[in-house]
Amino acid sequence: MSFLQRRDRLLASLTRPLVLFSGGAISRNYPANTYPFRADSNFLYFFERPEPGSAALFDPAEKTVTLFLPERTIGDALWHGEVEPFDVVKRRQGVDQVMTVEALEAHLQSLAKGRQLDAIAVADFKATARARSITGQDLQFDDATKVGRGEVLEAIAALRLRKGPEELAEMRKTALVTHEAHLAAMKASRPGVKEELLAGLVEGAFARSGCVPAYGTILSVRGEVLHNHDHGNTLAAGDIVLLDAGAEGPAGYCSDVTRCWPVGGAFTPEGRDVYELVLKAELHAIGQVRPGVRYRELHLSACRVLAQGLVDLGLLTGAADSLVEAGAHALFFPHGLGHQLGLDVHDLEAFGDRVLYPGRERSTQFGTAFLRMDMDLAEGMVFTIEPGLYFVPAILRSPDFRAKFRGQVNFDRAERYLAMNGGRGFGGVRIEDDVVCTATGSEVLTAAIPKGRAEVEALAGA
Ligand code: GLY
Ligand code: MN
Ligand code: MN
Repeated sequence: MSFLQRRDRLLASLTRPLVLFSGGAISRNYPANTYPFRADSNFLYFFERPEPGSAALFDPAEKTVTLFLPERTIGDALWHGEVEPFDVVKRRQGVDQVMTVEALEAHLQSLAKGRQLDAIAVADFKATARARSITGQDLQFDDATKVGRGEVLEAIAALRLRKGPEELAEMRKTALVTHEAHLAAMKASRPGVKEELLAGLVEGAFARSGCVPAYGTILSVRGEVLHNHDHGNTLAAGDIVLLDAGAEGPAGYCSDVTRCWPVGGAFTPEGRDVYELVLKAELHAIGQVRPGVRYRELHLSACRVLAQGLVDLGLLTGAADSLVEAGAHALFFPHGLGHQLGLDVHDLEAFGDRVLYPGRERSTQFGTAFLRMDMDLAEGMVFTIEPGLYFVPAILRSPDFRAKFRGQVNFDRAERYLAMNGGRGFGGVRIEDDVVCTATGSEVLTAAIPKGRAEVEALAGA
């Protein structure tokens, strides 16, 4: 779908005028030193290469879209370079009119003619404050119940959830760049190398292709810390490096990929068993993807594969079904199987469970409670599949869990894993791919990134 078609679809489903904000520059310390601009994902979905500080009015009654852009000043031209004049932007974007954003409130009063306006909160708190004052709505970006009116969020989600060929093409490009980055880190991984060097190779590979990290790169031998952004360790033989990194391209689409490999090129016996079990669960879940399948069932099915494997390793005792029902598997697999992926790494997560758990309640059980979506899969959806196994001291030594799962978890055996690597512990293994639900099954956008045990051992040992 072209940007114009997307906007027409949105106009057709709105009942009130909607104001969207791109968001602007956000300071990292003193005001003039800002993070690189990244437009809000909804704005990116409806407009090509949006400018910071812009806004848009979708008027369903008039079937028009007006874009509001910052005034062009000599000062901006001097410091940041000249930008397209309004008439050029109007032609390029195919909108009905372009006006100055400085006079947004006055323009809206005349355009909306007293009608109640809707808006959506964005990460830029100044833009959100403006949206609040324009609409009178209690909008907050970090509270999914206040990010916008439900009907509006659902209308946008209905468009963004199923990716078109042009969106998949963008994601295939970022998958290629992500592939290159993961290979660079695998090949440079040997005892004595610091994690930060590998992280630099990953992010350098992104930058060389005009991409940025879609999220904070996770590269660590402490893979059991799920969102570990520290890169201070030095690799030693026996360690497992966990790399969770994905490129974001200029159009804003993301990859999100995790690979693990052994430093020195050979897994320890424990590492090999855990790795092969996680891979088995991942391939099992991917193999079940097709339209109509409930994502929560994929999650639970992967949990059962992991639980059976943990029984075989002597870490759990009992039948896989009942272990998963009780939540015992979650002491080793404490997160959900994955999430939607697109312009946001956790796509549409800002819209909350209204979109990601449609008509369904989130489980309150430890582990499954972290499942980020419970939707029936549909053709065109892109999501991750990312099972993992972790040895987390805070979980495995929790007195509460030890009491609750006494008969189901072999805590003495788990202690052996916690004692590995000189007491630093086994760490964790996660394998994550980006999967499209097709009419008949799935396409794995990131399938070319090596994950077979022998393949990653060979690359890491080269
Ligand atoms: N990289 C974050 C995640 O996998 O969800
Ligand atoms: Mn992910
Ligand atoms: Mn990830």
